[in-house]
Amino acid sequence: MTSRPTVVLGIETSCDETGVSLIRARPDSQAVAGVHGEILSQALHSQVALHAAYGGVVPELASRDHILRLTPLTQTVLAEAGLAWSDVSAIGYTAGPGLAGALLVGAATAHGLGFATGRPVMPIHHLEGHLLSPLLDPNAAGLRFPFLALLVSGGHTQIMRVDGLGHYTLLGETIDDAAGEAFDKSAQLLGLGYPGGPAISLWATRGEASRFKLPRPLLKRADLDFSFAGLKTAVLTHVQALQRDHALDDQAKADLAAGVQAAIVEVLVAKCKKAIQDEHASALVVAGGVGANRLLRHELGEMAKPLGVQVCFPAPELCTDNGVMIAWAAALRLARGDAAQAAGAFTVLPRWPLSELTK
Ligand code: KG4
Ligand code: ZN
Repeated sequence: MTSRPTVVLGIETSCDETGVSLIRARPDSQAVAGVHGEILSQALHSQVALHAAYGGVVPELASRDHILRLTPLTQTVLAEAGLAWSDVSAIGYTAGPGLAGALLVGAATAHGLGFATGRPVMPIHHLEGHLLSPLLDPNAAGLRFPFLALLVSGGHTQIMRVDGLGHYTLLGETIDDAAGEAFDKSAQLLGLGYPGGPAISLWATRGEASRFKLPRPLLKRADLDFSFAGLKTAVLTHVQALQRDHALDDQAKADLAAGVQAAIVEVLVAKCKKAIQDEHASALVVAGGVGANRLLRHELGEMAKPLGVQVCFPAPELCTDNGVMIAWAAALRLARGDAAQAAGAFTVLPRWPLSELTK
């Protein structure tokens, strides 16, 4: 990296959030990855309202909405940062994994902008964005490689070891539903709305978690894998029994919501504890939308305290999908000397295992 700061535009469109951001990166020998990042501006459009009526993300609607939002959001971040295209060094975009159509919109826009402005483009792995985003958080200033990461979103539940840029080892993951999916599907069964995580945690505040017996799948197993599909089935069984007895009232819904949240959090915390012990880790970072859950944050903190382990929860806007993490990952790769691409032909990778990423 030259000593000159680099300004990178980041574009995220892998699912139902359109995120655009500008980051300024400069060399910093004190920083964990040798780079200091500063968020110049960020803009995010959530499609939650668009998909709410369908109880989940409708891929075609997502793609169309990304098309509508991307150009205005890009103009917004440039204006907010007070920058022109001549100040921008490169464009990073999410190339996968995610919804194919949604990814294509981001990739085509990035390459189109790159072609028009003569700026190089850098395809970024969405999960690498999540894994590296904690390094931007001022609250995580002391964080050093290696650290453990719990990635909990609507599509992923993974525990990883992060040894450095591009060096990610999968330690455990869900064998069926993701944790966010378990929140969303349970909320749907209870008629609590979409997205389910915030709804379940709100209803849980009025509920008694111990009233209904719910499974803790794979809790006792020695590995770090998860399984949440059985939880959804157990919720369905309780809901059907309550409906038969005309007893699915608000208190029963709140009690089931509390039970679901307790079950998911207990399993996530137990597996994180095991990972910390197995890896002799000194830090754990949490990324992904479920990382916004207050009970999870509290319980992870309580678990880690006696172990002397630092737990980093990035600000909620860096936990969920955003353009900042994509700009930041691109900036780190550029700083390391990874070659950016000339704008032009492109492809997206809806299924892209992190293990296939360039080291
Ligand atoms: O990372 P994210 O914004 O998008 C991806 O899936 O990539 O995560 C969304 C997921 C949804 O399943 C949502 O229900 C869950 O995160 N979520 C929560 C909370 N806020 C969002 N789950 C539990 N508690 C929350 N407070
Ligand atoms: Zn994500």
